[in-house]
Amino acid sequence: MSSKKLLLNFIGVFIVVIICLLLIQKNVQDRQPQTKDQIDKLKHNEARQESGGMADSEQYENKLLPNSESERKILSVIEEIEKDTRPGFENFDVSDGRFLRLLTEAVDAKRVVEIGASTGTPGLWFTMALKSTDGKLITYESDDNKIKTARENFRKAGVDSLVTIIEGDPNETIKKHKEFIDILFICAEKESYIDYLNKLLPFVRTGGLILARNIDLRGGKIGDYINTVATNPELDTVFYQNGPGFSITIKKRPPAPEYLYQVFEDTDSNTGESSIQVKLMRISESEEPVEVDVPFVTTPYDIVDKMLELADVKKDDLLYDLGCGDGRIVVTAAKRYGCRAIGFDIDPLCVKKSIENVQSNNVENLVEIEKKDIFTLDLSRADVITLFLLPELNVRLIPQLEKLRPGTRIVSHNWDMKGIKPDKVIEQISEEDKIPHKIYLWTAPIQKED
Ligand SMILES: C[S@@+](CC[C@H](N)C(=O)[O-])C[C@H]1O[C@@H](n2cnc3c(N)ncnc32)[C@H](O)[C@@H]1O
Repeated sequence: MSSKKLLLNFIGVFIVVIICLLLIQKNVQDRQPQTKDQIDKLKHNEARQESGGMADSEQYENKLLPNSESERKILSVIEEIEKDTRPGFENFDVSDGRFLRLLTEAVDAKRVVEIGASTGTPGLWFTMALKSTDGKLITYESDDNKIKTARENFRKAGVDSLVTIIEGDPNETIKKHKEFIDILFICAEKESYIDYLNKLLPFVRTGGLILARNIDLRGGKIGDYINTVATNPELDTVFYQNGPGFSITIKKRPPAPEYLYQVFEDTDSNTGESSIQVKLMRISESEEPVEVDVPFVTTPYDIVDKMLELADVKKDDLLYDLGCGDGRIVVTAAKRYGCRAIGFDIDPLCVKKSIENVQSNNVENLVEIEKKDIFTLDLSRADVITLFLLPELNVRLIPQLEKLRPGTRIVSHNWDMKGIKPDKVIEQISEEDKIPHKIYLWTAPIQKED
């Protein structure tokens, strides 16, 4: 073979080898994980293999087996959305979606509130559960494109009747939120997480959940959110760091305040006669026992709304809540109507709770809380008085209520005032406890019935 031919053969073999090497490198690159999700999954599987677990259990994790036509329909829309790779339309992992659905069904959620509708995928997972819990989703979104896409996706999945989209900047629109919440889901601008939490936490029912996505435990813009949910003793939070990171927070049920009747013998200093007396005492680990006339029980938020509506509260009014409990009536009145309000309670634990409620809702400029016995109060400055006491306590208040300025409105949750005819009585079933509640309205000067 001539040296020229040998050289050509050599060059040919060299080119083939180079092409093979390039193909091998490309193949290796293609197999490399590219996105954060893929890298996380790879690490996750490696860790499992090291610990002897099954690396391929993903095949089970990513499947949901629909058991009805409506589930199938929702799933098919979710799958369709997954294919949309437009920038700004973040994909929502199937396992995260199933997690939302599972929690929603597990807590039998009737009202889910979502901040950040995006394309509607998380909302669709919620609706899959809400269909069986007979619940509703309220979702806050500001981006017009996302609103349009989400609306269309809810319609296609046949769940639009379960969803209300509140359009506009959630920082502003959530200020009008007034319904109780079983699950709050936050997946929006990170710097606002703490603000969303502070504004909506009072509406989350005890035992309800607060879920937040994109939780990076290194902190950054959500550092104050992480710190709050991890250190507030009224909350319990676990962090789930698979994929983009979740925090799951439960609003703990507070220990029920304990009450006991104290029975004692009392001797009249004038007559010397003795009688048996009964006192209702609130006892707790942290405070001195205190005598109360009625225990602390809250008015459901939707009934609070109705009471304020019936009292026709105006911005210039001064509202007194006699026995303010956790301060929900005074706080709601200030937030909704911008009026001034004072809550009175004899129990230091309730006073503390009310002050915390006022502070977390930023209404310190409008609301005051005072530790006072309501039967010692001069009520003449009030324009509206709210009561949730007992029928006999309403009657005991009559001498004070008779001194009210004409036009002052009194509303009482559940209890009448024997001897004084109300202007109006309405009855409403609360969505919170599903039982009927009465609300009585009187206007000063109150008139004794003949
Ligand atoms: C049934 S709770 C109502 C709480 C709140 N107003 C609501 O509707 O959610 C009654 C409240 O009255 C308070 N209370 C009982 N006797 C009182 C008294 N003599 N003076 C002031 N507050 C009293 C209790 O501590 C309790 O917080």
